[in-house]
Amino acid sequence: MMKKLYIKTFGCQMNEKDSEQVRILLEDSYVKTENPEEADLILINTCSVREKPEHKLYSEIGRFKEYKLKKPDLIIGVMGCVAQQEGQALLQRFPYLDLVLGTQGFYSIRSALEIIKEKGSPVIFTDLKENFEIPLVLSKSKGVRRVKAFVTIMQGCDNFCTYCIVPYVRGREISRAPEDILKEAEELVVKEGVREITLLGQNVNSYGLKERGYPDFAELLDLISQIEGLWRIRFTTSHPKDLSEKLIKVLSENPKVCKHIHLPLQAGSNRILKRMNRKYTKEEYLEKVSLLRNYCPEIAITSDIIVGFPGETEEDFEETLEMMKIVQFQEVFSFKYSDRPFTLARKYPDKVPSEVKEERLRRVHSLQEAITKSIYESYIGKEVEVLVEGRSEKDPNKLTGRTSTNVVVNFSSPRLDLIGALVKVKIVEAGKHSLRGQYVESLRV
Ligand code: SAH
Ligand code: SF4
Ligand code: F3S
Repeated sequence: MMKKLYIKTFGCQMNEKDSEQVRILLEDSYVKTENPEEADLILINTCSVREKPEHKLYSEIGRFKEYKLKKPDLIIGVMGCVAQQEGQALLQRFPYLDLVLGTQGFYSIRSALEIIKEKGSPVIFTDLKENFEIPLVLSKSKGVRRVKAFVTIMQGCDNFCTYCIVPYVRGREISRAPEDILKEAEELVVKEGVREITLLGQNVNSYGLKERGYPDFAELLDLISQIEGLWRIRFTTSHPKDLSEKLIKVLSENPKVCKHIHLPLQAGSNRILKRMNRKYTKEEYLEKVSLLRNYCPEIAITSDIIVGFPGETEEDFEETLEMMKIVQFQEVFSFKYSDRPFTLARKYPDKVPSEVKEERLRRVHSLQEAITKSIYESYIGKEVEVLVEGRSEKDPNKLTGRTSTNVVVNFSSPRLDLIGALVKVKIVEAGKHSLRGQYVESLRV
């Protein structure tokens, strides 16, 4: 009989993809369940990029302890970035844990489960190899049909921004073999009917630069776009310093590449950018934005911003707001700076008080809300292409999808059997987080 797997995922899209890979690795013996109480294996895939998600993990693990008392055979494991960061220490803190799998170690989950079965002792796989090869994990089952999927193209990061834990928990930057990326993407399209693929990496713009004979990221996009039946390609995240004119050209000219780029600014003051080790100035960032808009006027730019980095003065912070006004990001994900283990910024003495961070975050939110509103309103009356992802959550008589520029559109339609189709929608109204529209015609089904 098949056993049951419950897997809870925190953190970024990379983690979502890793959870999916684990499900496939175990598909011979486990089926997924949404109910942890009936699970034989509970996995928590963790994030440690900020303090908050790390704390979530600790409350989550505590919750599962009682299940183990009721069901002694239950296996509980932690994977992902906190597992990588804490390793053995997690077992000391939570003695009922069976498994600690790091960001490369989770690929060996099958042998880890074997060891537990044979020896009964907990297993920790947290080695990080510099020459690690991201395995090709393909499902043998036919799979359910779905519209969108992720494909990991690289692992790790070499940038060492002074606030960031990622290089320590994901290891050195490694690009995946292009053949494997293409194979995985093709399988998703052919077997599961996937129409849109998002390519994942901490810093996709430096794809292939360290490896001999690999295409660069712009070339990789063109290669993937040749897959028949694949209609849209997205990617995340881009580091501004490695955004090349060659890539911008592909972004503007290749019709399958979506007209959206997530380009984290982090801060608007050159002094803070330098202390963050971001390796660009605000002037250089603005040059990249101009280049993007010159080649591709319709492009949507979104960003990440950290408020209250150590030493950030009111003047520094106002430069961040100024940059937001100049660039007009479609959306911004903003975070209060928090100290992370291993990082340099943790040792900086001039920490910003928490009330000040709170207040700056509110100012970023309210400015961005106004900017997003004006961008969303500019869509009213226009016809846009939407890839239909499903029924609208709020109103099941409507459909939902995204524009190429990554805005959610909910729309009424005479037909509801259009999931996976590319349709033309006329925008009639702008909400805070989405647009509303009416179906015009189907473009591709
Ligand atoms: N590789 C991606 C970022 C991954 S982390 C990139 O370079 O864009 C996602 C976001 O979390 C970062 O862009 C940053 O804005 C935020 N972040 C990372 N470390 C943080 C910290 N210590 N405190 C607050 N926010 C942080
Ligand atoms: Fe972290 Fe910077 Fe690497 Fe992004 S580029 S993962 S922010 S170190
Ligand atoms: Fe979090 Fe790890 Fe992603 S720290 S943001 S899950 S790379």
